[in-house]
Amino acid sequence: MNSIGRHLIMTCFGESHGRLVGVVLDGCPAGLPLKEGDIQRELDKRRPGLSELYSSRAEADKVEIISGVFRGYTTGAPICMVVKNLDVDSSVYEEYRFKPRPGHADYPAYVRYGGFNDYRGGGMFSGRLTIAYVMSGAVAKKLLSTIGIEVYAHTVQIGPVKLDRKPTLEELRTKVYASPVRCVDREISEKMEAIIREVKSRGDSIGGVVEGLAFNVPPGLGDPLFGSLDGDLAHLLFNIPAVKGVEFGAGFRAATMKGSEFNDQYVYRGDRVETLTNNSGGILGGLSNGMPISVRVAFKPTPSIAIRQRTVDLREKVDTFIEVKGRHDPCIVPRAVPVVEACIAFTLADHCIGLGLIPKVLGRKS
Ligand SMILES: Cc1cc2nc3c(=O)[nH]c(=O)nc-3n(C[C@H](O)[C@H](O)[C@H](O)COP(=O)(O)O)c2cc1C
Repeated sequence: MNSIGRHLIMTCFGESHGRLVGVVLDGCPAGLPLKEGDIQRELDKRRPGLSELYSSRAEADKVEIISGVFRGYTTGAPICMVVKNLDVDSSVYEEYRFKPRPGHADYPAYVRYGGFNDYRGGGMFSGRLTIAYVMSGAVAKKLLSTIGIEVYAHTVQIGPVKLDRKPTLEELRTKVYASPVRCVDREISEKMEAIIREVKSRGDSIGGVVEGLAFNVPPGLGDPLFGSLDGDLAHLLFNIPAVKGVEFGAGFRAATMKGSEFNDQYVYRGDRVETLTNNSGGILGGLSNGMPISVRVAFKPTPSIAIRQRTVDLREKVDTFIEVKGRHDPCIVPRAVPVVEACIAFTLADHCIGLGLIPKVLGRKS
């Protein structure tokens, strides 16, 4: 399945070393002002080659809107957006065709598709496909802004280095993308950068955690059981390559807590119902409760590393070794921050359209 969503539906296509990566976004209300610059701003946050901490693949990642926008406004027709692949070097991938990289999708994809899969650069299993998520997320963010919902993500952990405090809204608005690792705290950011440099110098990689936050989400968003807001968010977040864990609010810590510690107690703030704590991460019974949605997403270390590891030769049917060459991110986390943001925005926009909070037509053309 390469489509997701119920009312706002994205269908992703393309491969890492094919002609392009693209998305068809169906169900977007008519009348949303939209230009390529809106999409480009978001894409620029996940572009490779931005710093020596990222893959050195030099892609401009320029978006082209192919359909669904006329004279600066969405028309209600499917929006097709593409980004061409320009800096492609597939030379090293012939070696991995029958020698799967440990930690990457090479082996299960080879079995699943009978060897017909495009293995160059990981094909459709590449992190490059998240370009499609970010393009959809850019539209979703604009839709959400019409009803005051703001979505942010930031890095809270790289290896052992953690941000152990809550960021302010102002920091989330202004500081995230000023840091090459997308951490709002300058001192912690520098420690995170140092650890990525250190593992990179040894040909290794490292994992980490991204926190996603959504503010001004009205209570009651979501559907019980299989349309739950946390279920839908987790579904999409788990479809970001390299994600190994998703937790809301207190997450796995909840298992060690008592009810008296975990329960978020209600209070009135003016005429708004709020809770004193947010261990539920803004979601109860699959429905938003009006508190900020808070989700933490754990990323594994980048699979492609230059260190010698064991693998198999699928043609010769023997054990062998591999040292992965090519251009890779020593840490996926910084480049995944805008992707997490996009996935949260997409899921919230899908639910808002479903409940009619965002109308199918935004205004009327004079
Ligand atoms: C933004 C982003 C960039 C990535 N860059 C790389 C990379 O440079 N090298 C690599 O081996 N994997 C990279 N990955 C991860 C692989 O795509 C992923 O680990 C692989 O498809 C296997 O899927 P799984 O880890 O979800 O099981 C990246 C993922 C994301 C989200």
